[in-house]
Amino acid sequence: MSKSTNITWHDTTISKADRNAQNGHGSCTLWFTGLSGSGKSTIANAVSNELFRQGINEYVLDGDNIRHGLNKDLGFSDHDRTENIRRIGEVAKLFVDSGKIVTTAFISPFRSDREQVRDIFTEGEFIEVFVSCPIEECEKRDPKQLYAKARRGEIKDFTGIDSPYEAPEKPEITIHSNEVTVGEAVEQVLNYLREKNII
Ligand code: ADX
Repeated sequence: MSKSTNITWHDTTISKADRNAQNGHGSCTLWFTGLSGSGKSTIANAVSNELFRQGINEYVLDGDNIRHGLNKDLGFSDHDRTENIRRIGEVAKLFVDSGKIVTTAFISPFRSDREQVRDIFTEGEFIEVFVSCPIEECEKRDPKQLYAKARRGEIKDFTGIDSPYEAPEKPEITIHSNEVTVGEAVEQVLNYLREKNII
């Protein structure tokens, strides 16, 4: 719910369509979702690298980084995760308005939170990318040793252990990160963007 009253929306003089025309490509959010250790950040960054190499305007919003700044007041309760995702959605929308292809890498475990973000975008601009990986595999990788800590009870509300992860029902893209290489995953995403004439 909004706390501000007496505020008016101002359309900017340069529109998203103007920026897209100048850039020669469309703008959208590639919303990566998946368990910790599933490969979201790795693949999102690899996609951004490839877009950058092709001269496309891109930007990465990454969970751990955003939690160092904009969202450092938030923890991992259900309420805080919902607020985390709401804010990221709004930031991503600004980047899309600025003409960028933004990749976001947040666990974003709750379906309803992701759907609320989808709802603030124009149809086709929110592309949900499910990085699917069995939890056993994520736990085996455990790059930050967080699953080990969660199992020892040193972290509570850890996604997949004592906090839920709700997989997307109809994601635009599903990447089986335990079955494909990072390069193949990047190609899968770029193919989608080409199919939709975004790039
Ligand atoms: S989200 O659930 O709100 O979307 P987000 O993607 O921002 O999570 O942050 C997840 C990252 O925070 C993980 O990759 C991990 O490094 C770290 N982390 C710390 N505590 C937790 C926890 N309880 N559950 C999940 N991730 C955690």
